[in-house]
Amino acid sequence: MTAQDNAVYIHTMERLLPIVQELSASRDLPTVMDIVRHSVRDLIGSDGATFVLRDDDFCYYAEEDAITPLWKGNRFPMTDCISGWVMLHRTPAIIEDIYTDSRIPLEVYKKTFVKSLAMVPIKTNEPIGAIGSYWGQIHNTTFEEVKVLQVLADTAAIAMDNIRHQDIIAVKAKQLEAAIDSTMFAVAKMVEQKDLYTSGHQRRVAHIALTIARELGWDEKRCEAVFRAGIVHDIGKIGIPSELLAKPAKLTACELALVKTHPEAGYEILKEVPLLLPMAKIILQHHERLDGSGYPCGLQAPDIFPEAMILAVADVFESMISHRPYRPALGVDAAISELTANKGLLYDEKTVDALVRLVDEKGYQLPL
Ligand SMILES: [Fe+2]
Repeated sequence: MTAQDNAVYIHTMERLLPIVQELSASRDLPTVMDIVRHSVRDLIGSDGATFVLRDDDFCYYAEEDAITPLWKGNRFPMTDCISGWVMLHRTPAIIEDIYTDSRIPLEVYKKTFVKSLAMVPIKTNEPIGAIGSYWGQIHNTTFEEVKVLQVLADTAAIAMDNIRHQDIIAVKAKQLEAAIDSTMFAVAKMVEQKDLYTSGHQRRVAHIALTIARELGWDEKRCEAVFRAGIVHDIGKIGIPSELLAKPAKLTACELALVKTHPEAGYEILKEVPLLLPMAKIILQHHERLDGSGYPCGLQAPDIFPEAMILAVADVFESMISHRPYRPALGVDAAISELTANKGLLYDEKTVDALVRLVDEKGYQLPL
C-alpha cells in the first residue's frame, strides 16, 4: 500500500466510525438499509449499491442506490444470482469483469450498467442477506474496499439482530400487559362483588381518568397506566366489612377511619408484584388532596403524583354523580361545582379544567 493509499484508507476508516455507531443504534430495518446503501457508495465511490435479504430460497433485492435502476423489489432464486452465491458459500464475491465470470447470470446483467462488482454476506455463519457494490467501469476492488463492505455488513447484522430481539420483547410485553389487564379486571370484579353499591365505580373512574389524561395531552402509555390504576384503585376495600361499605347511613368516626385504610391496604396488596409497584404508589395517593387534608399521608401538591391527582378528580366526580347507600346521586352540576370551587385548593387545577372542558364543551359521554 502506498503512502497515499494508506492516507485514503485511514480517512475512510475515520468516516466509517460514525456510520457504524449510527447503524448500531438503528431501531428499524428501513433505517439500516438506508444507511448501508448510502454509505457503500459514499465510502467506496461505487456507482451502485444494493441491500439484499434472504427470503427462503430467494434473494430479495430490498433496497438500492445506483446511477440507474438495478433490481429493487425483485426476487431471484438463490441459485441464479450472485448474492445467492455469496450467501450459499458464506464468502464475498469479488468480480472484476462480470462478462468473464461464470457465476454471473449475464442475461440479467446485460441490461444494467454493471461491469464490476463486489458483494459480501450479512452474517458470515448463517447469511441472512448480502450487501453489493457495483461499478460501471472495470474496477479492481481492493482488499480495503472489501473490508469496508464487510464492516458495514457485520454491523448491519448486529443491528438486525437487535431489531429482531426488540420486536420479540415488544410482543412479549404486549402479552404480559394483556395478562395483567385481565387479572386486574378479575380483581376489580372481586372487590365490586363485595361492595355492590360501588359496582362499576372503578371501571367508570378508570374511564373518566383515561379521558382526562388524554385531554391533558399525556402520551398513550401514561394514559393507559392511569386507566389500569383506576380499574383497581379501591382494591383495598376488599379488607373492609361489606356491611360498612353498604351502610345506608353516615359512618361513625371509627367506621370512617376503617374505610380510610383502603388506599394503604390496596398499596400493600399490589406492591408485592414488582411490575405493579408504580400502580400501587398511585393508588396509595388517590385520596390525597393538594392542601394536605387528604389521606392516608396528608401529602401536599408537589408530592402527589399527577396520576393520583387525576384519579382523585375522576373518583370524586364519579362518586357524586352516582347513587350511594347513604344518599341519592347528586348530579353532574353539583359534582362540577364541587370540583371547580376547590380547584387549586384540593384538586389539581388543570385536571379539573380538563374534566370541565370534556363535560361542558366536548360532549363527554359518561360510561355506564
Ligand atoms: Fe377510594
